[in-house]
Amino acid sequence: MNKIGFIGLGNMGMPMSTNLIEDGYQVIGFDLNKQAEEEFVNAGGEIREKVADLAKECDVVLTSLPSSEAVEAVFLGVDGLIAHSHKEIVLIDTSTVAPEMNEKIADAATEAGVAFLAAPVSGGVIGAEQRTLTFMVGGSEKVFKQVLPLLQCLGANCFHVAKDIDSGTTVKLINNLLIGFYTAGVSEALQIANKKNIDLDRLFDMLNVSYGQSRIYERNYKTFIAEQDYNPGFTISLLLKDLGFAMDLAEKNQLNLPISKQLLKLYREVEQEGYGDKDMAVLYERVKKLSRKGIG
Ligand SMILES: NC(=O)c1ccc[n+]([C@@H]2O[C@H](COP(=O)([O-])OP(=O)(O)OC[C@H]3O[C@@H](n4cnc5c(N)ncnc54)[C@H](O)[C@@H]3O)[C@@H](O)[C@H]2O)c1
Repeated sequence: MNKIGFIGLGNMGMPMSTNLIEDGYQVIGFDLNKQAEEEFVNAGGEIREKVADLAKECDVVLTSLPSSEAVEAVFLGVDGLIAHSHKEIVLIDTSTVAPEMNEKIADAATEAGVAFLAAPVSGGVIGAEQRTLTFMVGGSEKVFKQVLPLLQCLGANCFHVAKDIDSGTTVKLINNLLIGFYTAGVSEALQIANKKNIDLDRLFDMLNVSYGQSRIYERNYKTFIAEQDYNPGFTISLLLKDLGFAMDLAEKNQLNLPISKQLLKLYREVEQEGYGDKDMAVLYERVKKLSRKGIG
């Protein structure tokens, strides 16, 4: 397990892949964005021209891609991973995709005799940089144990959820539904402090030792709201994608989740207003703007 492929060198993939380089692995990258590839080469990585090249050469290939469509293209395309993998390879998708996409890829992998794990992560860009990610892995436990030392280079908590390929994704979608709630809650609750002239730094210090505390409050406030900087991070569009998957999952299981439905509607509106590529903490600014107008 010395030669590692990494496809998708974005906000998450770049720090994850460069951490592996730091650990002495030979890491071969691929991204549609040539600027990202350049940055990766400057960090000591190698680049190949095609996804298929990684499938032929590497012992393990990890992916961190922004959508189910991108994951489908990379795994199931004519030049994709499954079609060109050798039999000893392990393919690990760390993206958050629809559970159905996990199943579709697992079916193709089984048919091709290739090992595949669906391993979404939580912990954000900071977690990727600091190697504190949580991995929620669905698929064969034997394969999970085989790649565990590699995952432990990238994350502090690596869980095998179940042999069902979409089990990690289910846990991840529950996580992100909660993230959607907390982000909306922080965005609205802080407006009362603004109106009542309570300093937001002091509010944080007090709530940080009270039951109103949450990791999302800490993340959204300290890194983004207090800094007035909404460079992602985790974008509104990525959160919306995950909320959509979570609500599809609820619907398929005949669950009526009325507040979650409102949440999905809210983030859809926020994306349509042009906030999609900003960090999700920007919801605070949107609520602030609307509540000033007395609309919110
Ligand atoms: N950003 C976070 O905080 C965070 C946290 C946990 C999980 N995730 C999940 O991780 C995944 C990646 O998120 P991100 O924030 O790094 O996204 P990103 O948009 O920053 O990075 C995705 C990268 O994939 C590349 N890409 C897109 N299509 C491709 C293709 N067909 N072939 C090769 N490269 C392609 C893009 O050019 C980009 O560099 C998503 O599924 C997201 O839901 C993100």
